[in-house]
Amino acid sequence: VKRIALLSGGGDCPGLNAVIRAVTKAAINEYGYEVIGYVYGYRGLYNNDYIELTVDKVESIYKEGGTILFSSNKDNLFDYLVDDGHGGKVKKDVSDVGVENLKKAGVDVLVVLGGDGTLTSARDFSRKGVNVIGIPKTMDNDLPATDLTYGFISASTVGTEFIDRLNTTAKSHHRVICCELMGRDAGWIALYSGMAGNASCILIPEIPFTIDNIVKHVAKRDEEGYPYTVIAVAEGAKYADGTKVIGKIVEDSPDPIRLGGIAAKVADDLEKAIPNHEVRSVNPGHIIRGGDIQSYDRILSIRFGVKALELIKEGKFGNVVTLKGEEMSYTSLEEVIGDAKFGKQKHVDPEGELVKAAKAIGI
Ligand code: F6P
Repeated sequence: VKRIALLSGGGDCPGLNAVIRAVTKAAINEYGYEVIGYVYGYRGLYNNDYIELTVDKVESIYKEGGTILFSSNKDNLFDYLVDDGHGGKVKKDVSDVGVENLKKAGVDVLVVLGGDGTLTSARDFSRKGVNVIGIPKTMDNDLPATDLTYGFISASTVGTEFIDRLNTTAKSHHRVICCELMGRDAGWIALYSGMAGNASCILIPEIPFTIDNIVKHVAKRDEEGYPYTVIAVAEGAKYADGTKVIGKIVEDSPDPIRLGGIAAKVADDLEKAIPNHEVRSVNPGHIIRGGDIQSYDRILSIRFGVKALELIKEGKFGNVVTLKGEEMSYTSLEEVIGDAKFGKQKHVDPEGELVKAAKAIGI
């Protein structure tokens, strides 16, 4: 191996830059490889658009959120939108162009940082004979193959700060405040942020909720002398009666209402059910993805990056770097994508120790 290439695809995630830095530094310093980075994910690979990555270029990005390689969502060279020659567009498998461009740039190994979409293409390139190493990317922490992903702790730390801060107003005004937290279909970020930030109620997709139960919870807190409640609401939280909040529309409403998300819908319902409290909702959205990353993620990103280099050195291509217990490890791309294909995600265990601990302290 002489030259490796990096690319990042899908949404940005805290720690991506730190991984890019770790891969680049370890490749150059430890193994003497050259490193290039395709910009805008697979689109850059298609357009042969890349930058040379040097230690100098990456040295200071150890704590910066986002990705200096930029990213493109949903660019899949196996099903890529190209000009049809008649002024229109058509979808085509252009993966051979990607393979050719790797050859042209003298790339021996492609290191792909991404979630299931991006890693599915990585698997397909691997099937075409390209030497590929995957590094998972999801702050939602919902990938079964790895015990933890970088970005999750940073996102949860920002989520925690939101809940901390909302407690101030909730307490001062005896309000009920719902705070929506990202996490897609999993409740990890809401659970961690809620527990750490002292939310007194946490709604996660793994445990469907009823407004009635929340009303009882608020009343109990009133009786106990805590006339305020901050509720951490996972964006994927589910009403037990099946009420759906898709995007920003309440589907079941006879006259669909546009809302800020599920926290806004919960707040709306609570406002009607709890007349003795003012109710508010906030949705920090992508704010929890941005800014500097936490020290734990800085270390984890370094470990993911350095492990990728180890796999390259050992020729263990077609694998994704994972964390198993305390050790860095790897799982085949086939298995990781197989899990994603069959909707296998790592969810909070509703009967697990973490949820029991939350309940034990009154959440
Ligand atoms: O997977 C990361 C994540 O931030 C999820 O928590 C969230 O559901 C989604 O991405 C948001 O995606 P987008 O940035 O495309 O709106």
